[in-house]
Amino acid sequence: MQLTYDILKTYQENYDAGPSLEGGGVTCPEVPLKRLLGYQVRSRLGIAAGLLLNSRWIEAYSSLGFDLLTYKTVRSSYRPCYPLPNWVFVSDDGQINGPIYYRESPPEDTSAVTSSVCFGMPSMSPDVWRPDVARAKEALRDGQLLIVSVVGTPEAGWGGEEMANDFAECAAWAVEAGADIVEANLSCPNVCTAEGSIYLDPEFSRGVATTVRSRIGKVPLLMKVGYFEEESLMRSFLQAVSAAVDGVTMVNGLTRPVLYPDGRPVFGSDYVQAGVLGRSIHRASVQSVQMAKRIARSEGLDLSVLAVGGASVLADIKDFFDVGADAVLMGSSPMYCPSLAADAKLHCRDW
Ligand SMILES: Cc1cc2nc3c(=O)[nH]c(=O)nc-3n(C[C@H](O)[C@H](O)[C@H](O)COP(=O)(O)O)c2cc1C
Repeated sequence: MQLTYDILKTYQENYDAGPSLEGGGVTCPEVPLKRLLGYQVRSRLGIAAGLLLNSRWIEAYSSLGFDLLTYKTVRSSYRPCYPLPNWVFVSDDGQINGPIYYRESPPEDTSAVTSSVCFGMPSMSPDVWRPDVARAKEALRDGQLLIVSVVGTPEAGWGGEEMANDFAECAAWAVEAGADIVEANLSCPNVCTAEGSIYLDPEFSRGVATTVRSRIGKVPLLMKVGYFEEESLMRSFLQAVSAAVDGVTMVNGLTRPVLYPDGRPVFGSDYVQAGVLGRSIHRASVQSVQMAKRIARSEGLDLSVLAVGGASVLADIKDFFDVGADAVLMGSSPMYCPSLAADAKLHCRDW
């Protein structure tokens, strides 16, 4: 299995040298344009915030036929990455709660891969990422969109208004640099401060949504959320943000304790809980998307849903489109399945 992100190396090393792509790339079939969030797009297939660390990663994956490219979450100030390990393989146990256990290497079958990440949402300083977002935008081909993921960074003594302003500052910078779409990240499974779970607070989320909207004009705005255990809370969230946003991206990794078989936490005692990705979360992600579409329909909310969670083979992508997803993003699988978008376009010209 080819891995384009070297999980034994630091985030900075991968940022500086990746992605590691062997071979001569892929041949992408010509497919007709579609519409998404007011744009014409070559396909409604892309990569969620995470793997695309900078403009070089974006350029590489745009050439592989992924058409919706999300620049990994950036902040208003430099934030280092947590220490290694940041990304490990774990054994799928068919559950979404309770501890999940480390495995040394991934299964041979890429459709069976489950992994876990604990990066802490690192960010280059705005001096670095703002010009780099502009380079990323220049690298895109016709029919491709650049989504920039942003997050607020809390400081001591801040309330909701200051946090919302910090989100909005990053969003405005992203648009100035060329973002086609802004995604406000309201969830991160391994960050213990306020920005890790804003989506569970509908009023806080509404504040972020309206403040960001006031700074970015008509540029499409998405909110990235984690898993909702209760439909009533998802409903309250969607009602709270719908006037200010164009859609939601769901779901982020599911939070679980990630342990070695002897019970030690893989990411160290400060980060027992981390985000679980891949096969283990696919069913729950499809159910979440289905629920969001149902709520939007029944409440008359005009919201697109960009689906993410455990898509690594064509059947997973189909699962999401079948329940009404407006687009399908891959988080972890493009690391071990770089030809997935090209394969998907061969299989279905309408995706
Ligand atoms: C290496 C890596 C880093 C990630 N970093 C972020 C991030 O900065 N912001 C974010 O919203 N999600 C982040 N994610 C989560 C993904 O966007 C996605 O929600 C998650 O991986 C679930 O999708 P999957 O099952 O297809 O991997 C990251 C994922 C990976 C693999």
